[in-house]
Amino acid sequence: MLSKKYLTFGAFLAAIVSASPLSAPAPEEGLIVIQQTEFANGTLTWYGEDPAFTKRSVDADVPSSKPLHKRCGSALPQCSNIHQSFTSVCRTLIDNLPDTQIPESPRSTCYNVAGVTCCISWGKVIDNARSPALRYAANKVMDACVATNSKGEVLVSGQTRDTLVGGTCLNQCLSNRATNCDSS
Ligand SMILES: *[C@@H]1O[C@H](CO)[C@@H](O)[C@H](O)[C@H]1NC(C)=O
Repeated sequence: MLSKKYLTFGAFLAAIVSASPLSAPAPEEGLIVIQQTEFANGTLTWYGEDPAFTKRSVDADVPSSKPLHKRCGSALPQCSNIHQSFTSVCRTLIDNLPDTQIPESPRSTCYNVAGVTCCISWGKVIDNARSPALRYAANKVMDACVATNSKGEVLVSGQTRDTLVGGTCLNQCLSNRATNCDSS
C-alpha cells in the first residue's frame, strides 16, 4: 500500500518534471541565494549575483549609476515562447511578493511549486524599491503573453523593456529562469 502510494506520487512528480522546459532550474551560474521564504505550497527565493562574477556585474551595472536622461516606464510587453512557466505558479509569485525592500543587489525572485519555477528577473541593481513594485510589469506580461500548449498547459513567458522599478529603468522578465534577463 505504502509503496503503491509512493510510486503514484513519484509518477506524479515525474510527470511534472518531464513537462519540460518547465522544470526548476538548478542554481544558475553567477547567482547565489539571498533569502528564502517557505509557503504552504512552495518556496519564494531571492537570487543575487555571485561575488565571483563581480566583474560582469560591475560592467552590467554601469548604466544604472547614470541619471535617467529620458522618461522611463512604457513597459510594453514582448512575449516569448521559450522559457515558459505555468501561469498558476507565476500568479502565486506575483501575489506573494512581500511588502519589503528588495534585498541588496538581487537579480531575480522565483516561486517554486513541486518542481515548477516562475521567476521575475532583471539585469541591474534596483535603486530603492519595495518588491510590490515588480508587480506592475509582471502583470502586463501575464495579461499579454499567456499561451496554451498542445497538452493544454497554460504557460507564460515575456519581458517588458523600459520598465521603471523604484528609481531604476530596466528590462524585467517573467519566465522559468532566474537569470539572463537583459540589463538595458
Ligand atoms: C499556492 O497557495 C496559494 C494560497 O496559499 C494559492 O492562492 C495558489 O493558487 C497556490 N498556487 C499553486 C501554484 O498551487
